[in-house]
Amino acid sequence: MGRRPKDFFKNKIKRPKMKNILLAPKGMPDILPEENALRRKIFKVVEELAEFYGFGQIETPILEETKLFLHGTGPTSDVVQKQMFNLKTPGKDQLSLRPEFTPNIIRAYLENGMFNWSKPVKLFSWGPVFRYEQPQRGRYRQFWQCNFEILGSSDPVYDVLIIQLFYNLFTELKLKNLVIEINTIGCDNCRPLWHKELKNYFRSKRKFLCTDCKNRLKTNPLRILDCKNESCQALKADAPKMLDYLCPECRHHFKQVLEYLEGLGLPYTINPYLVRGLDYYTKTVFEIRKSDDNLALCGGGRYDYLVEMLGGKPTPAVGGAAGVERLVELLKKNQKIEGPKSKVFIVAIGELAKQKALKYLEILRKANIQAGESFAHESLKAQLRQADKMGAHYVIIIGQKEALDNTVILRDMRASVQEIINGDTLVDALKKRFKNDIIKTIE
Ligand code: HAM
Repeated sequence: MGRRPKDFFKNKIKRPKMKNILLAPKGMPDILPEENALRRKIFKVVEELAEFYGFGQIETPILEETKLFLHGTGPTSDVVQKQMFNLKTPGKDQLSLRPEFTPNIIRAYLENGMFNWSKPVKLFSWGPVFRYEQPQRGRYRQFWQCNFEILGSSDPVYDVLIIQLFYNLFTELKLKNLVIEINTIGCDNCRPLWHKELKNYFRSKRKFLCTDCKNRLKTNPLRILDCKNESCQALKADAPKMLDYLCPECRHHFKQVLEYLEGLGLPYTINPYLVRGLDYYTKTVFEIRKSDDNLALCGGGRYDYLVEMLGGKPTPAVGGAAGVERLVELLKKNQKIEGPKSKVFIVAIGELAKQKALKYLEILRKANIQAGESFAHESLKAQLRQADKMGAHYVIIIGQKEALDNTVILRDMRASVQEIINGDTLVDALKKRFKNDIIKTIE
C-alpha cells in the first residue's frame, strides 16, 4: 500500500481513518466532485481560447510506443531517463504511458496526413499525462495538462501567440503577479559552439557537480543548467550564455519575439539559464509562473526539428503546456468552494409522496428548472435542513395528503411563507416567482 507525502491531502476533505483499505497508486490522487467543478471551469476558458485562436482539439492515445518518447522527448531528458511508466504487452509491444503530449501530437500529425492541411496547423489537447516523480506539492505522477501546438510556421509571431494564449488563460482565471521567463537556446548552427563552451566550463568545475551532472557533462551539458542540486546551481552564474553565441537568424528571431511581447505589454524577464527539461527545443523557450512561487504554471517553446526527427518533412513548430493541478491549487486558494446550488428543492414525506416527487423532478428537468432533493432523509426537518444548505429559495413539500390531492406546498424560504397550489400549475407558479425575483432585484 502506498504512503502519502505529508501535504498530499491538504485542501482535501478529511478522510476517515480506515485500516486495510487499498489506496490509489502513489502520486495519482482521485479527483473529487468539488475539484472537478474547478477543472471544468478551467477547461471552459481553455475551450473558449482555443476556439478564438482557431485551435482544433485532438485526442491521442494515453499509451504510445516507447520509441516515440525516446526519439521525441529525447534520450537526455530526465523524463526519458527516469520518469517513464513503461510496459510490455502480451504481444511483446513496448508501450509507455504518455509523459507529455508533444511527440504524440507530431506522430498523429504525420500519421493522419495533417501536413496537407493549410498551415499553420493549430491543435490543442487536455488530459492526463504520467511521470514517475517523487510526489510533492504541485508534482504528481498522474497530472493533467492543457497543451497547445502550432505546426508549420517559423514566424516569431506564433511564439508570442502561444505565450499570449497561456497568459490570457491565467488572467481569465484571475491569477495575479504573473511572470513570463523567456530565453533562446539557438539552433543547430549556433548551439554546438555554446555546447562546447559549456562543456569546457563545467569540465573545469567537475568536482563540484552532482553525480547526475557528471553524466550530463558527457550526454548534454545544457541539462546541467536545469539541475536543482545546490552546488550545480551555484555554478550557473558564471556559465557561458547562449545569448552570446546566437547566429544572426536566431538573434533576429529572439529580438522579434521580445518586440512582440513588448507591443502587447506582457511582463517578461529574460532568464539566460532557462533551457527546459526536454530535448527538442530550438530558439525560444519560456515558462510562466507566479512571482511568489517557483513552480511553473506552464512551459513551452519552439521545436523546429522534431517533426523531421520523427520522420516528417522539415516543419517548424511551437507550443506549450500548462499543469492543470497547479492551476486548481491556486483557484482553490482564491475562492470559496461551494457545493451544488439549487434554487428549488423537493421535500417528500412517505412512499406515495416520493413517487409523486420523482414525477415532479422530471417535469422540472424538462422545464429546465434545476431542483435538488434529499429523499434519503426521512423527516421534514432533516430535508428542510438540506434545502437550506443548498441555498434553495423555494421548497416544494409533498406529504401523504398532497400526494393524494395532486397538490404541493410551495414554500418561499426567504419570506418564510407558504401556500398550497395545484400540482399541475407547479412550473408556471415557479416561473412567475422567478420573474418577480428578477423584477425585485432590478428595483
Ligand atoms: P513541461 O514543462 O514538462 O512541458 O510541462 C508543462 C507543465 O506541466 C509544467 O509547467 C507544469 O505546470 C506541469 N507539470 C510538469 N510536471 C508536473 C508534475 N509532475 N505534476 C504536476 N504538474 C506538472 C511539456 O510537457 C511540453 N510538452 C510543453 C510543450 C508543448 N512544449 C512545446 N509544446
